[in-house]
Amino acid sequence: MNVLILGSGGREHAIAWKVSHSSILNQLYVAPGNAGTAEIATNAALDLMDFHAIAAFCLKQNVSIVVVGPEAPLVDGIVDFFAADEKLQGITVIGPASKGAQLEGSKAFAKAFMERHQIPTARYGAFSADDQEEALAFLSRLKPPYVLKADGLAAGKGVVILDDLKEAEIMLSEMLSGNAFGKSGERVVIEEFLKGSEVSMFILTDGHSFKLFPEAKDYKRIGEGDTGLNTGGMGAVSPVSFVNPEFMEKVKNQVIIPTVKGLAADGIAYKGFIFFGLMKVQGDPYVIEYNCRLGDPETEVILPRIKSDLLHLFEGIATDTLSECDLEIDERSASTVILASGGYPEAYEKGKAIQFGDLSETQVFHAGTRLSKNGGVLTNGGRVLAVSATGTDVSDALKKSYKAAANIQFEGVYYRKDIGRDLQKVTAKS
Ligand code: AMP
Ligand code: GLY
Repeated sequence: MNVLILGSGGREHAIAWKVSHSSILNQLYVAPGNAGTAEIATNAALDLMDFHAIAAFCLKQNVSIVVVGPEAPLVDGIVDFFAADEKLQGITVIGPASKGAQLEGSKAFAKAFMERHQIPTARYGAFSADDQEEALAFLSRLKPPYVLKADGLAAGKGVVILDDLKEAEIMLSEMLSGNAFGKSGERVVIEEFLKGSEVSMFILTDGHSFKLFPEAKDYKRIGEGDTGLNTGGMGAVSPVSFVNPEFMEKVKNQVIIPTVKGLAADGIAYKGFIFFGLMKVQGDPYVIEYNCRLGDPETEVILPRIKSDLLHLFEGIATDTLSECDLEIDERSASTVILASGGYPEAYEKGKAIQFGDLSETQVFHAGTRLSKNGGVLTNGGRVLAVSATGTDVSDALKKSYKAAANIQFEGVYYRKDIGRDLQKVTAKS
């Protein structure tokens, strides 16, 4: 079977790496891909939002499965586009249609969905520019810190948490007027702050049954000790020590099953990944956010822990036999450390030559890289490489990730030295 993966980050390199080991794979394409995917697949220069060009490529190359890495093409309706054209109906796109993708594309939609299906989440209000008065009144009734969320996609930057009521009121007005996040902020979700431990969970669903992937924790801030600006994610580990069987049961019964049933009850056909951003508060799960795709860098630690053939699962979605497929998870732990360009997440330079030393016992996934004319690898983004490893436990995996990270050089390279450290302390205490 021929497969096309859409995207160009570490997540897509990890999906390509996993699919490249499938016994039922024939040709593998990644669009647009990066220097890492070029080593294991054929990169195709396609624009992710040009559905006509993607469809024409699939027909020409006889692609039967398209895996969509990032959210934007899903929210924009790539699945609806393929479903609407008879010539494309033999092609399965892994990901929800635009209605289901609203779980990520609109925070107000996601909150209303959770309310309707009694899925635990922070108390909230959703407001647009016309309800500014009510929005300010709602805000003043909450206790600090104040959580303000732009309704639409904002490249991971649409959530603002402020301690001071005056500052929160100013930010709220800026958002509602479109000054802070443009159109995506003109509707705002204000919610109660939840104090707890965050964890990411993932399922693959055909709309009825689902397969539960390993959980992961990502490290979003640029600085050690979770300080400084938010990033796309600076590292991840799996499993997560505070996810015990009792918590997992609650997640399944209170969050995952009601979500899959809720989608079906609302008449939303959903074939793809659901990413649950959860907060564990005094032993109970609350949904902080839904995403309609896999996480990055979480994918770089969860796929190394999957023993089963991922393409078999995608085929299970295509043939409506997902419930019969096996998902076998490796007992070992995994870690990934992101090597970033100096200056990220603010301005940074691209085009720096990367020298790779000894990378033994790791799997390096490329995030922002490209090939130079002479075949070398150059930096091409803020997050450049994800150095993943597996080990007997998280510390063992991290030792390998950090050893290899120290053997990779490029001008301005930066990485956090404390990925997973908080969890090791918890483990040591408990
Ligand atoms: P989101 O884009 O919804 O994932 O939000 C970004 C980050 O803001 C999350 O990963 C949390 O760390 C934090 N966050 C979002 N909502 C809340 C909340 N209600 N309480 C506490 N932290 C939150
Ligand atoms: N690592 C968080 C995300 O992919 O949204």
